[in-house]
Amino acid sequence: MKKFAVIGNPIAHSRSPEIHQAFARQTGIELSYEKILAPLDGFASTIKEFFALGGMGLNVTVPFKEEAFALCDILTERAQAARAVNTLWMQGDQLHGDNTDGAGLVNAISALKWPLNISRILILGAGGATRGVVLPLASAGATEIVITNRTLARAESLAEDLSVFIKNTNLHVLALDQLAGHFDLVINATSASLSGEGIALPDSLTFNYAYEMAYGKPSSFMDQAKKRDVLTADGLGMLIGQAAEAFFVWNGVKPDLTHFSL
Ligand code: ATR
Repeated sequence: MKKFAVIGNPIAHSRSPEIHQAFARQTGIELSYEKILAPLDGFASTIKEFFALGGMGLNVTVPFKEEAFALCDILTERAQAARAVNTLWMQGDQLHGDNTDGAGLVNAISALKWPLNISRILILGAGGATRGVVLPLASAGATEIVITNRTLARAESLAEDLSVFIKNTNLHVLALDQLAGHFDLVINATSASLSGEGIALPDSLTFNYAYEMAYGKPSSFMDQAKKRDVLTADGLGMLIGQAAEAFFVWNGVKPDLTHFSL
């Protein structure tokens, strides 16, 4: 039986095992999928042991994604852009790393049948969550991606870093008070919902769809969006989407997300 796991600290709350088991049932692939709690100073030795004992693939979650990135011998382009890794496997004696978070967002939005091709997208926030999704959104055909952030300099430096990877999408930065006009999609990639605070979007800004990357928590971004009568979704679909992409990377089979629910 193929052996997989998700590794993090804390890890008890992770829903990855139930998602991967559901994919396994759907695709007829036999696998085990455990949760591994790694000590904060013991990530490298824990993954080494997992692979030495025959493990096939690991998902990596908070707070180890950057450490996983630094340990890899081979990285996919989207992992290089994200500078973080959430999917690991060994090939020969080389540790491979990918980042499926952004593809997970694209999968989730596609499953909702929201348009991404030829779209104008606004992303709120300039941290790791934004870094992980810009290239996959651009690759999905976005015409324009605007990043805005409370600390504008952070957004500017992120856009500059990412511009190396972006070819056919107009990627740029605007301050909150410069935002105006119409966007197809607004994505909240800030951790503002965790603190119960929100980013006040100007009234002159209009949009059709609002995606909150967080899930399972109250979100002032979602409250704002609902008042505007736009279509909304939270990050549970992205979680499922990133798992589906990792499942595909490891097993070569793409789970069908159209009617998938937990
Ligand atoms: P993550 O890896 O989840 O993206 P991060 O790197 O700490 O976490 O980034 C958090 C993001 O949320 C940043 O864009 C941060 O804005 P600043 O760069 O100005 O700090 C944003 N953020 C967090 N709390 C916020 C709040 N209350 N209002 C607005 N933005 C907030």
